[in-house]
Amino acid sequence: MPNAAVRGRSSRETLSRRDQAVIWHPFTHTSLEGPPQGIVRAKGSWLIGEDGRQYLDAVSSWWVNLHGHCEPRIAAALAEQAHTLEHCIFAGFTHEPAVRLAELLLSLTPENQERVFFSDNGSTAVEVALKMAIQWESLQKTRPAPAEKRRTILRFTSSYHGDTFGAMSVSERDTFTAPFEDYLFEVRAVPAPTAENRETVFSQFDELCAREAPLAFLFEPLVQGAGGMLMHDAEALNTLLAIARERGVLRIADEVMTGFGRTGSHFATLQTEEDPDILCLSKGLTAGFLPLGATTCSREIYEAFDQPDRGKFFFHGHSYAGNPLACAVGVASAELLVTDQCQRQIQEISRAHERAATHLRSVPGLKNVRHTGTILAVDIDNGQDAYYLNTIRDTLYEFFLSRGLLLRPLGSTAYIIPPYCTTQGELELCYSAFEDAGRKFGCGSNIYPSVA
Ligand SMILES: Cc1ncc(COP(=O)(O)O)c(C=O)c1O
Repeated sequence: MPNAAVRGRSSRETLSRRDQAVIWHPFTHTSLEGPPQGIVRAKGSWLIGEDGRQYLDAVSSWWVNLHGHCEPRIAAALAEQAHTLEHCIFAGFTHEPAVRLAELLLSLTPENQERVFFSDNGSTAVEVALKMAIQWESLQKTRPAPAEKRRTILRFTSSYHGDTFGAMSVSERDTFTAPFEDYLFEVRAVPAPTAENRETVFSQFDELCAREAPLAFLFEPLVQGAGGMLMHDAEALNTLLAIARERGVLRIADEVMTGFGRTGSHFATLQTEEDPDILCLSKGLTAGFLPLGATTCSREIYEAFDQPDRGKFFFHGHSYAGNPLACAVGVASAELLVTDQCQRQIQEISRAHERAATHLRSVPGLKNVRHTGTILAVDIDNGQDAYYLNTIRDTLYEFFLSRGLLLRPLGSTAYIIPPYCTTQGELELCYSAFEDAGRKFGCGSNIYPSVA
């Protein structure tokens, strides 16, 4: 029997209405949020709705888009690959797009990265990294072993590494993970270093490494995205990475969000002297065209698996691993990323953020104005301590949408992480929306009187 909700529906009905009958959206509470906006096409930094409304995609559609929507050179690479080789099993076979993409990634990532393992999204890139680290430990024969096997994983507080079980286990325990709590493995959290706490964090981190002999430290370098666009500096991160190295703790950088220019350099970990042992990539890897994940690692990690024992290979693989279409898109995107034009766009966005931040710091109702590379964030100071469940979130989201801006706040945190083709004029639309939001909804406004 066909589903009653689908029977009799006409494709002339709006997308939004047809969607409501059949689709379950991610991170969406439909009865609280109302119907989704139907989008029919996109160009540059803009999404175009079925009702003709346009939205500036200032969050790069969940941080994936790099060069603008439907970028013609990437679209052409995808079309050509689709007519050549759309997919082939990635065990025992290989192809040009995967090899070329791996070569490009290793030429751009920190120097010690020597191998690329493909999966299909950010969470799986993290799962692969965790499994690599855990299995690597069990393959060690010569490593100076602590009294007990290394098991503990360290993470930053407010971390977010994805929605699969391993990735949830190493993420902050909050509303998002609460229903699954009993099924997650234990990890230890340390605060990310700030100007105020850095010395304490360094000694806490060192003590933890000495006492518990952790297996790995998994971290979002420089910017913790979903945790609220929290930023720390490269020097402090470098100190933690040096301690981890000295204590024999593997360093796993999750650059799923920060990778591909977001923090100003190709990768955030290029700003630290210490290199990570393992690196997780996705999102910008395919510039928003297709799902793809990659986990890269150092020679030391890879060589431990390179044994003639059939029971010792890496126990992981996905059906779509190394998909040629996704890899071809990744190659086209990486080739665009390194052009002078794209690097200039990244620098111009970073400079515009810097100027805007200076002004926004003086706006009443805004606090914690911060920026790293192409990412700028502000907190709307409405007197509530709550972060993600701050009641201002939905008000802000609607306020920005009403101005044609797709700025999806994280609780009371509004942020911009734009495609690199976004113009200065388009950025100005966002800055002035932040200013108006501070004045309208922040402390001192009519809606949220000051709680001082
Ligand atoms: C740092 C980080 N790691 C992992 C993920 C998970 O990526 P995905 O949503 O592709 O599974 C995200 C997603 O936002 C992320 O920001």
